[in-house]
Amino acid sequence: MTFEKYDEMVFIFDHPLIQHKVSLLRDKNTDTKEFRELVSEIAMLMTYEVTRDMPLKEVEIETPIGMAKTNILSGKKMGIVPILRAGLGMVDGMLNLMPMIKVGHIGLYRDHETLEPVEYYCKLPDDASEREMVLLDPMLATGGSASAAIGFLKKRDITQIKLMCLIAAPEGIARVRKTHPDVQIFCACVDKGLNSNAYIVPGLGDAGDRLFGTK
Ligand code: PRP
Ligand code: URA
Repeated sequence: MTFEKYDEMVFIFDHPLIQHKVSLLRDKNTDTKEFRELVSEIAMLMTYEVTRDMPLKEVEIETPIGMAKTNILSGKKMGIVPILRAGLGMVDGMLNLMPMIKVGHIGLYRDHETLEPVEYYCKLPDDASEREMVLLDPMLATGGSASAAIGFLKKRDITQIKLMCLIAAPEGIARVRKTHPDVQIFCACVDKGLNSNAYIVPGLGDAGDRLFGTK
């Protein structure tokens, strides 16, 4: 898997399969079923790169033919935290590859007047502070939701945090970089910017509504 570096903490996936699937996601004629499948598939493809730095340790395993020195994962365990609602769409794709990881949830919505995030739910695994946690949200628009969610994780003593999104606006990247310069951001595309309602342009519209068919 290859990726472009936006800066030293921001990685953009330029793999053709991811780019192709994001194009299908953007299409306003893509229906809810296909949209949901695409979000999950892209999350699964991105998982390869987001987990690239996981440490390995050598073990000996007996194969039917003989002994093999081989590698298994070691070190800190991982967890994922979808930001409700739309982050839920990325969970299954990651669980397909890493069925043992724990899943926390943070509920946030953007107040339509102030455009600032409002928290309504937070439930994390008991041992979250011992894990590397990957926050999931398809859209990084103003960056308010992601910055707040990262802040909630840090308040609960979680120090190793990555953010995985599908489409990011430069404004959102700048806000997260400023408020949480230690957090790596992984995304499939960086778009032009935001419109007056803080939607990403050209983006894909409202990710939660498209995933769950609420509009
Ligand atoms: C969307 C999206 C992000 C947030 C991004 O959620 O899933 O969480 O907006 O915007 P920001 O970067 O400007 O904070 P929304 O608030 O629409 O809630 P929903 O997932 O329940 O639809
Ligand atoms: N949330 C979305 O779902 N889409 C956007 O473009 C911005 C925020």
